[in-house]
Amino acid sequence: MKQLQVEHIPNDSQAGIAEDLVVNQEIALHRTYPKLKLDGKALYYEILYNGLAVGKVGFYSIIARTASMSYGLEKDAEGKGIATRAAGHLRDLGFEELGFNFINLSIGKTNERSQALARRLGAVLTLPSQNQTGLDKWTIKKGWNETA
Ligand SMILES: CC(C)(COP(=O)(O)OP(=O)(O)OC[C@H]1O[C@@H](n2cnc3c(N)ncnc32)[C@H](O)[C@@H]1OP(=O)(O)O)[C@@H](O)C(=O)NCCC(=O)NCCS
Repeated sequence: MKQLQVEHIPNDSQAGIAEDLVVNQEIALHRTYPKLKLDGKALYYEILYNGLAVGKVGFYSIIARTASMSYGLEKDAEGKGIATRAAGHLRDLGFEELGFNFINLSIGKTNERSQALARRLGAVLTLPSQNQTGLDKWTIKKGWNETA
């Protein structure tokens, strides 16, 4: 098997970048990008629900110990908690295996489902866009679930 090399991510964390991740009995993640050699900037998985592809989740703009996350589900897969569990699994992998300190999300002001998901993932609004059509920046900080 080819060893993945991720720029900015320590070599001892490479094992965390698995091709297939099992979230629970219903949900699994199958790596779609990069297929073999990572360019150090993105890591994407297809979301499988009971074996069917229903969406995507991944990291992009991986710079040092900060990454951005994006996600999307097929319309008829919404409302079941699939994105919460898939993105939550990837969030944990990002912090625990890939050494990230911050995971950013760019979310439209009217995208209520994505905002609700971001909150469930532990994100807080860190940089509101100045205009109504812009994207707000939300951030999940490493240790987000620890009490102060
Ligand atoms: C953003 C997006 C992924 C959110 O999808 P979602 O279905 O709302 O999120 P989840 O899969 O986590 O499901 C949450 C719902 O399942 C319910 N649920 C059921 N079991 C659950 C569980 N175990 N855990 C969490 N939620 C659960 C929740 O109560 C919630 O219900 P609601 O729809 O009544 O609010 C989806 O709307 C989407 O793909 N949108 C288009 C693309 C997009 O906007 N991407 C983001 C760009 S910033």
